[in-house]
Amino acid sequence: MRKHRVLGDHFYKRAKKLGYLSRAAFKLEDIQRKFRVIRKGVTVLDLGAAPGGWTQVSLGYVGKHGKVISVDLSPVKVDAPNLVKIQADITSPETIEKIKKHAEKVDVVLSDAAPHLSGIWEYDIVKHMELAEAAYNIACKLLSPGGNIVIKLFEGGEEVQAFITKVRRRFRRVSIYRTKATRKHSREMYLIGIGYSP
Ligand SMILES: C[S@@+](CC[C@H](N)C(=O)[O-])C[C@H]1O[C@@H](n2cnc3c(N)ncnc32)[C@H](O)[C@@H]1O
Repeated sequence: MRKHRVLGDHFYKRAKKLGYLSRAAFKLEDIQRKFRVIRKGVTVLDLGAAPGGWTQVSLGYVGKHGKVISVDLSPVKVDAPNLVKIQADITSPETIEKIKKHAEKVDVVLSDAAPHLSGIWEYDIVKHMELAEAAYNIACKLLSPGGNIVIKLFEGGEEVQAFITKVRRRFRRVSIYRTKATRKHSREMYLIGIGYSP
């Protein structure tokens, strides 16, 4: 338990030092190192993006010729000429139209979206799966053929397994990955889908 806190502190301190808005930034860095989901010059849609750690890291990967569109209920605290920020609910059908005003198609969909946790597991997992499903639905509508996704999931539950099975049918390769920056006792994991096939 103590070691786990120390590890948490380590990522928190490093995030502060590097000017990252969240320690979550290291999770995307780890995923990128292993799976190369984001290439230079592409368009990335970052769902559940606030405060903006993944957006900051994505802007670095896409470079100045790429684009990032970030969506969250809360404000994303990053600014860049090639960043579009949309304050909206990803479960709302109108959100997709708001995104489409800025890009008809995207190359990568990221979702680190998570509900406010109540601590009641049965309730939290249902709320979380609504967000994962919403992210996947948006990805199915906007992802270019061959595109990639990263979606946060929580281990356990039949719904999660059913979701993974469903996503596997639409991607050339699907992996389930626990990042090094994920807290040791957390059930958090990420689904990485490479090569979308509409
Ligand atoms: C773990 S945080 C994301 C951290 C982010 N990846 C970063 O690096 O800073 C989860 C985010 O999901 C957002 N969220 C939860 N439900 C949402 C919804 N229905 N629509 C949009 N965003 C949502 C929350 O507002 C919160 O900012």
